Amino acid sequence: MNAPRLDHLVLPDLRSLALDGRTWAEVSLATLRENFRVVREHVGPQVAICAVVKADGYGHGATECALALEAEGAPWLGVTDAAEGRTLRSAGIWTRILLMTGIWRGEEDSIVAHNLTPTVWENWHIDRLEKAARKQQVVLPVHLKVDTGMNRLGTTVQALPELCEKLAACEHLRVEGVSTHFAAAEVMDSDETSRQTARFEKALAILAAQGLHPPLVHMGNSAAVSARPETWKTMVRPGILLYGYALPTVRDGQVTAESSLPLRPVLSWKTRILTVKDVAAGEAVGYMGTYITQERSRIAVVPVGYADGYPRLLSNRARVIVRGEYAPVVGRVSMDLTMVDVGHIAGAAVGDEVILIGASGTKSVDAVDLAAWCESVPYEILCGISQRVPRVYS
Ligand SMILES: Cc1ncc(COP(=O)(O)O)c(C=O)c1O
Repeated sequence: MNAPRLDHLVLPDLRSLALDGRTWAEVSLATLRENFRVVREHVGPQVAICAVVKADGYGHGATECALALEAEGAPWLGVTDAAEGRTLRSAGIWTRILLMTGIWRGEEDSIVAHNLTPTVWENWHIDRLEKAARKQQVVLPVHLKVDTGMNRLGTTVQALPELCEKLAACEHLRVEGVSTHFAAAEVMDSDETSRQTARFEKALAILAAQGLHPPLVHMGNSAAVSARPETWKTMVRPGILLYGYALPTVRDGQVTAESSLPLRPVLSWKTRILTVKDVAAGEAVGYMGTYITQERSRIAVVPVGYADGYPRLLSNRARVIVRGEYAPVVGRVSMDLTMVDVGHIAGAAVGDEVILIGASGTKSVDAVDLAAWCESVPYEILCGISQRVPRVYS
């Protein structure tokens, strides 16, 4: 019998697929590594960095980003849960992995087996992990989380002494780290972060009184890494900074996106003009006719919509870049399609590249801009770029 023909199953090269495709995201791993180096230099050699790659690396691709960060020497990677941690392990990543948002009953054996480091704060976390570590005859490092005011995850400071006693009695668990998370570190006008820091200091004193001196003490997310060196302790957990974004900071009542750190966005998001049409003045564009042309216009249709993660709230608000010029989004963003007015852009034609996030010449649109136009945060924009959008790495 003839061997089956497999050539029709061979996928085209991802790069050409993406560049020929309807919409794609370009992820520069070199820029990610550069941003990591900037952060490392900023915090200095005494402070370890847990590079946060949860939520598929904030939409950039967790495995690719983790491999790049590991190659750059990141000592820790932060993910949300064991499932994300296992994905990285199965890609051959051996850097330490911190599970930042707790565990589920039943996954403790796999956490131990995959050498993942859980964050703990509940009695049952400790009981179950101790049992699993005993069964596999290892001592499992854990990080204890203290809720210092966000009222989300972690033990209260009041419950800490009892939890410490419990941990001290565990032969197969070692308290390697203690952490908390800030609610609003980017708001420099508020004393909330100082209050949280003071509560955390109290927690550290309780730990010390119980004979626990974990080497990894960590509080700082990106905002704290940027602007609050007093919070750095022995480790920080930056996420969005590594992807090239300093958070808008509030200082003296003013919102500013400025950061002294020379970071660059890692991801650009692009598409191409699918079709162009001339539309007379006074015509309604798109679903529900929310945009009426004021004059004779040229409307370009681009194949990106909310199914790709381009939020519907950007309707009539966002702008894109075509041939080095800004072009406004007109009408409703729909599931697969968005319209932009290119009447002022000479020669705009089918196949032209359209920048949704990225830069061209002096013009740029970034995730902070998109977030501002649709009442969101850059995190949601980046994480929201859907799986339908191929990521192309360089
Ligand atoms: C516990 C924890 N640490 C660190 C981070 C990273 O935050 P950012 O991206 O603001 O640096 C997050 C993200 O939400 C988090 O949940």
